[in-house]
Amino acid sequence: MARGGRIASAGRPCRDGIVAMRPTDAVTMVLFGASGDLARRKLFPALFGLSRHQSAAHGLRILGVAHEAYSQTDFRGVVAEALAGQGDDAARSAFLEGVDYLQSEFDAAAGYEALAQRLGAADLPGNRLYYLATAPSFYGPITDRLRRAGLCRPIDADHWTRIIVEKPFGSDLPSAVALNRRLHQAFQEAQIYRIDHYLGKETVQNILVFRFANGLFEPVWNRQFVDNVQVTVSEALGVEERGGYYEKSGALRDMVQNHLLQLLSLVAMEPPITFRADAVRDRKVDVLRSVHPMGPDAVAAGVVRGQYEAGTADDTAVPGYRAERAVAPDSKTETYVAMRLQIDNWRWGGVPFYLRTGKRLPRRAAEIAVTFQRPPQLLFAETDAAELESNVLVLRIQPQEGIFLRFGAKRPGQDIEVVPVEMDFSYGGHFGAAELDAYGRLLLDALRGDATLFTRADETEAAWRVVDPIRAAWTAGVDGCAVRPYAAGTWGPAAAAELLARDGRSWRTP
Ligand code: BG6
Repeated sequence: MARGGRIASAGRPCRDGIVAMRPTDAVTMVLFGASGDLARRKLFPALFGLSRHQSAAHGLRILGVAHEAYSQTDFRGVVAEALAGQGDDAARSAFLEGVDYLQSEFDAAAGYEALAQRLGAADLPGNRLYYLATAPSFYGPITDRLRRAGLCRPIDADHWTRIIVEKPFGSDLPSAVALNRRLHQAFQEAQIYRIDHYLGKETVQNILVFRFANGLFEPVWNRQFVDNVQVTVSEALGVEERGGYYEKSGALRDMVQNHLLQLLSLVAMEPPITFRADAVRDRKVDVLRSVHPMGPDAVAAGVVRGQYEAGTADDTAVPGYRAERAVAPDSKTETYVAMRLQIDNWRWGGVPFYLRTGKRLPRRAAEIAVTFQRPPQLLFAETDAAELESNVLVLRIQPQEGIFLRFGAKRPGQDIEVVPVEMDFSYGGHFGAAELDAYGRLLLDALRGDATLFTRADETEAAWRVVDPIRAAWTAGVDGCAVRPYAAGTWGPAAAAELLARDGRSWRTP
């Protein structure tokens, strides 16, 4: 860390060992799936935000690839719609000038010949960033095609080529291993950026700073002081238009394998020896490898899967999951998962980590709550304060990013009455709105060649090793693993509350 408390961020050195990026380097980003939902909802707005705020994105040309027969003008119209409400006309027009379109099937040789020609054209910069924002079934074929077309290596020693791969990365361990193998036939690991947008959220990055740039918390961040850790990511929305995808994925693959396990690794990891990409990822992967493997009985006892039924959201009646578009009327897909994990290492042995996520819960929230053990003796046992509450430290990821600490304080007056109070730090209140959203931040890191906030091959495989036995027990119909209904707008099935009640604990309501 440099003087002044700044951990390398802006201008972090290049991690891929190929060519460090100067802020003025121009880049061609080839966006596969350019007409899709992700591109329109997240990527174009983030790229536009980047182009306005960050010098690293100046000179960025975007070549959208998709199978729709758009003309250049049509496609710029699609992108313009995605940017509606952002920036001013002049800024949008300048951005759109840098957007081109190539119509191609993702798995057809002709498209890649055209792409090679297009990339050879003088107006497109030689640094290349591919972005796979297509259906996951195309990740392998696109990679193969890029390899066969000779488009995976940097064009010369002064340039670099990288690829960003969206989630889901495989659907289980074997498919993730196969996809990694296929990617590695075409790219070196250092060129591959597996994206998990949760890692781009400001408070998620702040977990590392909070833990390792402060002397106060790390000494108590272990089994001697911590009673339990809860990771909650709740969503108020249902599956919306994504029933088709979600039927095959479910909450375990859609959220737990990636976002929740990433949060778990950051909160539980050992200090890395540096903040370089591999040092950080080495320690994260250690956590995933230390998660106690679950057999079928452990899954039945320690994992709850739920599915929302009709209920309310924002005081409006909403349908149950099985009535959503593209969902089977007898679907067993889980829209909710809660689980208890044990991390078998010296720091965390015996401390339960409770994870939960679900759709159609009462509100959108993401937080990590670390509950500390009670004081060893209740000095106040004779008073009203017999039931002292534990100290809880909450890292709030969304909404209203912040950190708060709950502790006991004496209510003013004659008697000793201890009441829980909070010290509350709000990111927005202190620093104002963040300049970049999660996607913008991660895109910028990929442009700069910093892979710290991207998932490495072994990390994604280790995460599948944690979730695959759960799915296996569910698929095998092990007793106690049935899908449990919950009404939309509630905090999930009763069994999730019972999971903690059996341990003498309860979920914190975000
Ligand atoms: C995505 C999941 O990865 O994350 C979605 O596929 C989910 O199902 C989304 O809604 C949640 O992200 P965020 O940033 O809104 O919490």
